[in-house]
Amino acid sequence: MNIAVVGLQWGDEGKGKIIDILSAGVDVIVRYQGGNNAGHTVVKNGVKYAFHLVPSGILHPGKICVMGNGMVIDPLALLHEIDELRSQGVELSPKNLKIAENAHVIFPYHRKLDGFRERLRSNRIGTTGRGIGPCYMDKYARSGIRVGDLLNPDLFLSKLADSIREKNSIYRQVFGYDGFSEEEIAKEYLSYAQKVAPFVTDTITLLHNLWQEGKSILFEGAQGVMLDVDFGTYPYVTSSNASVGGIFSGTGLPPKALDKVVGVAKAYTTRVGEGPFPTEFRDEMGDKVREWGGEFGTTTGRPRRCGWFDAVLVRYAVRINGVEDLVITKLDVLDKLETIKVCVGYEYNGQELSSYPFDIKVFSSVIPVYKEFKGWMCDTSKIRRFVDLPKEAKEYLGFISEFVGAKISMVSVGSDREDVVLVG
Ligand code: IMP
Repeated sequence: MNIAVVGLQWGDEGKGKIIDILSAGVDVIVRYQGGNNAGHTVVKNGVKYAFHLVPSGILHPGKICVMGNGMVIDPLALLHEIDELRSQGVELSPKNLKIAENAHVIFPYHRKLDGFRERLRSNRIGTTGRGIGPCYMDKYARSGIRVGDLLNPDLFLSKLADSIREKNSIYRQVFGYDGFSEEEIAKEYLSYAQKVAPFVTDTITLLHNLWQEGKSILFEGAQGVMLDVDFGTYPYVTSSNASVGGIFSGTGLPPKALDKVVGVAKAYTTRVGEGPFPTEFRDEMGDKVREWGGEFGTTTGRPRRCGWFDAVLVRYAVRINGVEDLVITKLDVLDKLETIKVCVGYEYNGQELSSYPFDIKVFSSVIPVYKEFKGWMCDTSKIRRFVDLPKEAKEYLGFISEFVGAKISMVSVGSDREDVVLVG
């Protein structure tokens, strides 16, 4: 069975751990979008492993991990991540890590532009500053440089020359920036090319062959539906399709290669970066939940904004992705709360909206309509069976499942692989 794991909120839903658990049962793990803006930590036997680009399935010996063509890859970050994982004893080689030759490459001018554009905007997005948006801009403007190009020095140098000519001219005039040295970037990237080359392949043919052989595939989503460039809180989104649509354009496999979608949502909501967030805590509750949940970004270390579970958004995300199985993470973070709220609708100008409004101005000023639940006020972190969860927690989860229209298959109650409650 081929499954996709997607985030149903603004990223950081704890997908990494779920992907790690589900990876044990598949042969191939493939990432289809984003770059090193993503970040998750997997804790295995008490040891923390940090992932930004490499699929976390690499922790399972014998699996093939693929970085798909829909990704944008910063080779420096990638080589650093490979070195780190290897230094922690992870077996990582061209045998188990495959990089799409047609994935796009992030250059220093992308990172620079990310910063320049943020500074000029009247409403900042709060990007990770990794050059993700500008790299996708070049991809769609047909001036991007792909991983395969790096391995073909003549082609690479001519594309780089075009790119630098264009960037230097624009950056000088618009941002007063001195300009990039073509020679330095060429030298730097040709040295990365040598190190990355053994991992680079035609992942589309590879994936089709593996699929035809009956191997099972896990599609690893980064970020979440509300950061999807089409379906999220535009423009406060990332520049790729984090939801299931991105799988097909980002791997080359067709829709019929996907059997099931697992959606992951936190028992509350978090967001990093700017943008509207109706259920955000406006009081000391934000600090408490941030502390209990360790809500600091894995990539940038920024404190995450925290708020109540927004069932209207998660229902929307479930629909967009056709989620069958819902995984709720970090339930234990709510253990100490007397009362827990869930957003079930929005009020705007005295009228109730029953669905997510695309108009960012409207979404920025809606007032959440809450349903209150009694907290369970006990430690759930050691519980492993759904029947053993406190009655109040079952009620909370049962309501969420019914409202969003997906059955809950797993509840996570801690950061270790073993800290899960399997449902049904
Ligand atoms: P970018 O992807 O760096 O362009 O950032 C755009 C928005 O997406 C910012 O609000 C980031 O904080 C957010 N973002 C990007 N990647 C992640 C992620 O993996 N988790 C959570 N937020 C993210």
